[in-house]
Amino acid sequence: MSESNSESFSESASVEEFFTLRWQGEIDGCLQLLDQTKLPHQEVVVDLHTPEEVIEAIVKLSVRGAPAIGVAGAYALCLATRNLKQTEEVIHAFEVATPLIRNCRPTAINLATMVDRMAALFKSLIEDHCSGTELRQKLLEEAQKIEKEDQGFCQRIGESGAHLIHEGGTVLTHCNAGALATAGSGTALSVIYQAWESGRRFKVIADETRPLLQGSRITAWELQRHGIPVEVICDGAAGSYFQRNKVDIVITGADRVAANGDAANKIGTYMLATLAKAHEVPFYIAAPSSTFDFQVASGVEIPIEERAEVEIYSPLGEQRPSGEIRYGNPAFDISPATLIEGWITEAGILQPPFEEIR
Ligand code: MRU
Repeated sequence: MSESNSESFSESASVEEFFTLRWQGEIDGCLQLLDQTKLPHQEVVVDLHTPEEVIEAIVKLSVRGAPAIGVAGAYALCLATRNLKQTEEVIHAFEVATPLIRNCRPTAINLATMVDRMAALFKSLIEDHCSGTELRQKLLEEAQKIEKEDQGFCQRIGESGAHLIHEGGTVLTHCNAGALATAGSGTALSVIYQAWESGRRFKVIADETRPLLQGSRITAWELQRHGIPVEVICDGAAGSYFQRNKVDIVITGADRVAANGDAANKIGTYMLATLAKAHEVPFYIAAPSSTFDFQVASGVEIPIEERAEVEIYSPLGEQRPSGEIRYGNPAFDISPATLIEGWITEAGILQPPFEEIR
């Protein structure tokens, strides 16, 4: 893995531009990421050359967000066969890497879906007796197609939902469902961007999103880059904002939506959905069809990632406090469909059973 600071990529981009991830170079190129663990203070681009490096980046959230890790997983499979020539070597390397990439984060369905899509293509190419070089070329083309599709989804999600945000209103969001969570302009934040670009002016509140602060570190950084004012609040303040009628609409992303509409998203989203219902504020999920998992009937079947205890106790100091304390760290929760007003997708604002995108 090699690192460069923002100067090196801002040479070709205007100050406000940034990218989440991109393939750099030809077939033996690498995956470049903006390392999100360093935001907002440092803008560091890393070059990844192996699937192990991509897995590490996904696990430690250098790249994160359901659609973005789906795209990263597809490119990781390209890196698995990097520089290989012999067909047998290509097949072996691909097969070894596939389950490792697929399972490195369990909740967001996009990762598994995109790895499975690459694997299905690979299988059909082998059946067609493609050479090692042809296999690798087709894998890269498919990963690039997945990236492009996600960009289109983001654009259309924004178009579907922009009218929901009214002039002078206040929208609350949680975690980061923006450009930094996708290959395009985001999901929940794409809605906000398009409402803003249409000329309406409104307020955005971002929950800080403990424990890893995707709201205060990443969403706030991203909104500022777009010139959109944002107020960051601690997660526990949300109730008070609803109580004082300071929230008109809640829009979040999702990591996986079950067939009945139950949605897994960053821990704390369920609290917001419950508060929104109690205060008669509409709560929307913005997500592309690639985040819907029609194999799971309801949210109880969605696996919830449990992350390291250190993420919870680290504000108390580097060292784990002594004594018999366990730190629970579920990374996601489930908002039941009954709390969700609508699912903003590339095919419009949908309701279960989501016939339009099945
Ligand atoms: O743990 P993270 O940062 O990957 O969690 C991401 C989220 O929960 C996002 O809200 C979700 O993936 C939607 S992203 C468009």
